[in-house]
Amino acid sequence: MEKFEVKSQFYLNNQPFKIYAGAVHYFRLAPSEWEPTLRALKLSGLNTVETYIPWNVHEPVEGQFNFTGQADVREFVLLAQKLGLYVILRPSPYICAEWEFGGFPAWLLRYSDMLVRSNTPRFMSKVKAYYAELFKVLVPLQITHGGPVLMMQVENEYGSFGNDKAYLRAIKQLMLDNGVDVPLFTADGSWQQALAAGSLIDDDVLVTANFGSHSAENLAELQQFMTAHGKQWPLMCMEFWDGWFNRWQEEIIKRAASSFKTDLQELVDAGASFNLYMFRGGTNFGFYNGSSSRQAIDYPQVTSYDYDAILHEDGQPNAKLAELQAVLKVPAVMPDMPVVKAYPTTTATAQVRLIDVLDELGQVADSVTPLPMEQGSGYGYQLYQTTVVGQEQPEKLKLVDVADRADIYVNQKLVAMQYQASLGDEVEVPLAAQNQLQILVENTGRVNYGQRLLSPTQSKGIRTGVVIDRHLHFGWRQWFIDFSRLSQVDWQTSATVQYGPTLTKFNFDCSERHGTYLDCSQFGKGVVILNGHNLGRYWRAGPTQTLYIPKDFLKLGQNELVVFETTEKAITQVQFSDQPKEADGCEN
Ligand code: GLA
Repeated sequence: MEKFEVKSQFYLNNQPFKIYAGAVHYFRLAPSEWEPTLRALKLSGLNTVETYIPWNVHEPVEGQFNFTGQADVREFVLLAQKLGLYVILRPSPYICAEWEFGGFPAWLLRYSDMLVRSNTPRFMSKVKAYYAELFKVLVPLQITHGGPVLMMQVENEYGSFGNDKAYLRAIKQLMLDNGVDVPLFTADGSWQQALAAGSLIDDDVLVTANFGSHSAENLAELQQFMTAHGKQWPLMCMEFWDGWFNRWQEEIIKRAASSFKTDLQELVDAGASFNLYMFRGGTNFGFYNGSSSRQAIDYPQVTSYDYDAILHEDGQPNAKLAELQAVLKVPAVMPDMPVVKAYPTTTATAQVRLIDVLDELGQVADSVTPLPMEQGSGYGYQLYQTTVVGQEQPEKLKLVDVADRADIYVNQKLVAMQYQASLGDEVEVPLAAQNQLQILVENTGRVNYGQRLLSPTQSKGIRTGVVIDRHLHFGWRQWFIDFSRLSQVDWQTSATVQYGPTLTKFNFDCSERHGTYLDCSQFGKGVVILNGHNLGRYWRAGPTQTLYIPKDFLKLGQNELVVFETTEKAITQVQFSDQPKEADGCEN
């Protein structure tokens, strides 16, 4: 049995050991991509792979657990071991990671007394139930049980959120109670206040720091904190940011390979251990992207999590790979990554309007006031509908407490689109004697960082109601749209008129499966479902204009691709590309 210890240095099998790790999120890749990615990681001179574990992936519905397919963390860890790599796991209930709600499942928000990241009975009881299942999978993978897992994280940058030590201790204790017996650590920003608020240094939990530059200065901060607490521990940068993530309507952020090399060299020269965040970024498939928050507005992140990392989203090497190999003094050998190619352009085979297939595609519910999204799955889209008696004159209408984006239709005409700063603005709508009011609301992704994790705005949809004139309008029907029901859609109901959101179907043959990109530059805003896999959101606003498709999502023979377009843009063709595309400007 191998042995890993944290003393004044890391020790592996009684020998001093440096952890040179890279982050790969199994849940952001398709399973066939795990092995080539881990092989490339090894070829880069790294000895360890690190991954977060997102609660919302493993318990999507309360009490229903998923550890298969893309969520098969056990398989991923065993694959790493087979390739001779060690593993660091970060299974905390909160992971940040530009992931929906920082990893928290949306269903938590059904409880009005839910206070995430705190030692409160409601929250901790949900963590406890999840951990009971999760650690059944993780415990046997620890190095103490013959597995490759060296250590595990208690919480993630808690010092940038709160200071409830009782909560940190309760999480630690739950891990121990569930059988964790490898060393534990916390990771925080490298300044004294964050380290003090986020760590459990006096409980002997290793303290690590996250930063992407000024390595010597940041290590000195970490050292100072440890020394002040009388600890002699190895220095580790738990997230050395080699790139960065992107948000809609902003420029793509890139990090130069040269500055990455200089700062990494400084870290290595100082004798520190590190984890490159990210080694390969991957994709925010489905509705799993998070949002950044500034003041009162949330800014959702794009579907691609390329991160300008060592390997790109599609697995192809970035220029940083050679720099990494140079710093780690390993041969400059390029990994043999699977090819990415374009498929021929395809023309639509059928189209329906969302309103014609609501009962097939949505779970329906009637209510007095509109229901928030968490009454359904809590993700994606919800369509609200009601009838309004009017005076044949314009009337004022206002959505009260709505998130995140709302398209308001009166009598099948779009009268307003509200998003960010304009959300909840009063609009004047033309009303006939009898009117049909429909509102499509999108949850564009909950925040993954900061104080707004506790804000009521993280409950999506219409939370309070709709005011017309001066009164709340009562009597609603709503559909929680569920794309896993796509096979129930009757494509014959097709109406040719372009109005409101549409679903357009494409069928194409595939004789060879390989990774590819769907070109969305001619679409408006929506999501794409390929053979039941939600490829994630696209938006003409950019900066990204393509959706990555791993080969696992394609089928040999007939494939079905459905574009759910929420603007009135006509979708007639789909084109593929062998590389990602970016928008030249950020139009809305
Ligand atoms: C922090 C978090 C990570 C991630 C990065 C930015 O360090 O701990 O989860 O959000 O920022 O990519």
